[in-house]
Amino acid sequence: MPISFDSENKIFKLDTKTSSYIFQVFEQDYLIHLYYGAYIPDNGVADLAMRNCNASFSPANAVIGEHGFSCDSWPMEYSCNGTGDMRISALAIRNHHGNASTDIRYVSHRVIKGKPALEGLPSLYTMTDDDATTLEVKTLDKVTGAVVYLYYTVFENYGAMTRWVRVENTSDKPMDIQRAYSACIDLPTMNYNMIHHYGMWCKERTLVSRHLEHGIQAVASKRGSSSHTYNPFVALADDTATEDFGEAYGFNLVYSGNFAADIEVDFNSATRLIMGINPTDFCWRLEAGESFTAPELVMVYTAEGIGEMSRIFHRLYNNHLIRGEWKNKKRPLLINSWEAAYFDFDDDKLVAFAERAKEIGIEMLVMDDGWFGVRNDDRSSLGDWFVNEDKLKGGLSSLIERVNALGLKFGIWFEPEMISPDSDLYRAHPDWCIHVPERVNSIGRNQYILDMTRKDVRDNIYEQMCAILSNNNIDYVKWDFNRNISEAGSALLPVERQQEFFHRFILGTYELMGRIVDTFPHILLENCSGGGGRFDPGMLYYSPQIWCSDNTDPIERLSIQYGTSICYPVSTVGAHVSACDRTGYETKGNVAMSGTFGYELDPIKLSDSDLRIIKRQVKDYHKYYDVIHNGDLYRLIAPTANGHRCAWGYVSQDKNEAIFTFVTMLRCENSTFYVRLKGLDPEKYYYDDETCEVHSGALLMNAGFNFKNLPRSDGSSFVIHLKAVDKK
Ligand code: DGJ
Repeated sequence: MPISFDSENKIFKLDTKTSSYIFQVFEQDYLIHLYYGAYIPDNGVADLAMRNCNASFSPANAVIGEHGFSCDSWPMEYSCNGTGDMRISALAIRNHHGNASTDIRYVSHRVIKGKPALEGLPSLYTMTDDDATTLEVKTLDKVTGAVVYLYYTVFENYGAMTRWVRVENTSDKPMDIQRAYSACIDLPTMNYNMIHHYGMWCKERTLVSRHLEHGIQAVASKRGSSSHTYNPFVALADDTATEDFGEAYGFNLVYSGNFAADIEVDFNSATRLIMGINPTDFCWRLEAGESFTAPELVMVYTAEGIGEMSRIFHRLYNNHLIRGEWKNKKRPLLINSWEAAYFDFDDDKLVAFAERAKEIGIEMLVMDDGWFGVRNDDRSSLGDWFVNEDKLKGGLSSLIERVNALGLKFGIWFEPEMISPDSDLYRAHPDWCIHVPERVNSIGRNQYILDMTRKDVRDNIYEQMCAILSNNNIDYVKWDFNRNISEAGSALLPVERQQEFFHRFILGTYELMGRIVDTFPHILLENCSGGGGRFDPGMLYYSPQIWCSDNTDPIERLSIQYGTSICYPVSTVGAHVSACDRTGYETKGNVAMSGTFGYELDPIKLSDSDLRIIKRQVKDYHKYYDVIHNGDLYRLIAPTANGHRCAWGYVSQDKNEAIFTFVTMLRCENSTFYVRLKGLDPEKYYYDDETCEVHSGALLMNAGFNFKNLPRSDGSSFVIHLKAVDKK
């Protein structure tokens, strides 16, 4: 039973096959946290909650002397502001008296089969009620009348659970939610490394790890999107954990707006993590009878290392986050016009690309930025989603017919949330862009941002997109978002609701994106934000793939894709081969193959020898597709490990097939180099179709694979493809 309640001791126990999560209704109905970690069969862990407290300095509303209880030092299930717990708080509600002291206590609970959806927000889903079980715990803040529901969904077969929160105003007065994090997790020690990303445009999701220290450490975004800088992901890995062994907790927020992951190590050297909407620039007015839902946090625990944590996320997202017709479907191998032509194209040039692409075996042509309004550079026309017939002579349908006649599908680019000051839309509706009174609007990439909180704005963009998508044979849409939000405010929101803007903005984007996906379910949507500035589970709910980075240099891509793989599956990672000249086409292809795969170059300019390599690559892409996309990822050498090499691989579920990729970033002089492979069956024998050698899985994993005479110059790479065979 994934969720049980011991009514005598009032203890909740949530179990997956590999993990347990335990909390208790304590005296005076406080909810205290008892345990989160490896599966345990029983729930006798109440002692874990008892912690030292400094009685005279830690105020306690509830005096529960016998146990020395203090909500300032004991592990709390969902920490509240201003009533004795001085550590970071998950919840703060300003009441009609003007103070933000908040105190929730248990009222009741119920267990729900399956998983309810979150109103207006993306979330994990179940196919049948047997896929997951949900616990709803009702709590009440008596003074404000705020009813706070804590939700826990257990994905029993995955070692994963998710949490979210809903606040309902049952009083007759308004209240202001100053912060409502999605979850609070109190762990008894500080023996963890905090693993997270950092980055920027063209350098997204580089992994870093640092040991927890006393005090508060955090990653967050207040850019209006999850951002290139940090990602809504953080892991706490035991001091001793490695890629293959040891305990790791992974946390990933299903949200694309401003997020925060705050971690405090307190005076007891215990750790509290809270994760949710960033409270900076956030305050939500809740009128009587209204309710507010905070986004879902995905939580993974494993005792089998950081690699297994990633694999759990991958399985969970492939099955319960990615939706729609493209969920398990092989994605078309595409060529995108951006790096090939930028704004400089017309219909004939695109058709010429398509002709050569067809010869190579490419299946879809994507026309990127520059086809609409009078957009010949990035200074105009966003918001004017009508075809520029000076470029596409004969119109869009005629171009698509020509491309389709060659046997290729057709895709198109939009940046729906943006508006250029030099556009018909801006001239007609200057107030439709985000702005605040009395301040000059900052410009980013020569553009402003549409006020997505407004339905009239969303309807206009929806109608314009529909006109293009309904009247043309379009199979794919790339949805871009190319700047951060500043001067955040809406002309339509009253003063007391202006700080709702950031959250309302992303809710508006979700609504529009959801409408497009529902209206055109056959279309493959690829998200993008100047590369991977909005690479998060919220976006993945709408688009099964996201352009990972504008950086297509295969060597720099290694750390970007490696970092992305910490929780996002390969099927979601947009990766293309470009014309950049850092390495040859072999390495570019070997790196891009660990993604959705495609090309981003002028195919007409390819030399005969490069063309030959690319044609072979296309064949390899089909040959390796199943093992890469349906297999399990094993990371072997991090690009940051020694600065010389990076290696990783995929092993099929039945362990009969595997592919491993080795890239030499910088030549090093070792005459031999062994790499221990992972994930194989030690008892099986594997045939390597390049070297024609047969080795046992045990040998390849324990002694290692020997590079011998394989390529090792700067930027070189090779792939080994293994198939299980009868014993030699
Ligand atoms: C940023 C994207 O990441 C690129 O791939 C391209 O679509 C440009 N925008 C177009 O403006």
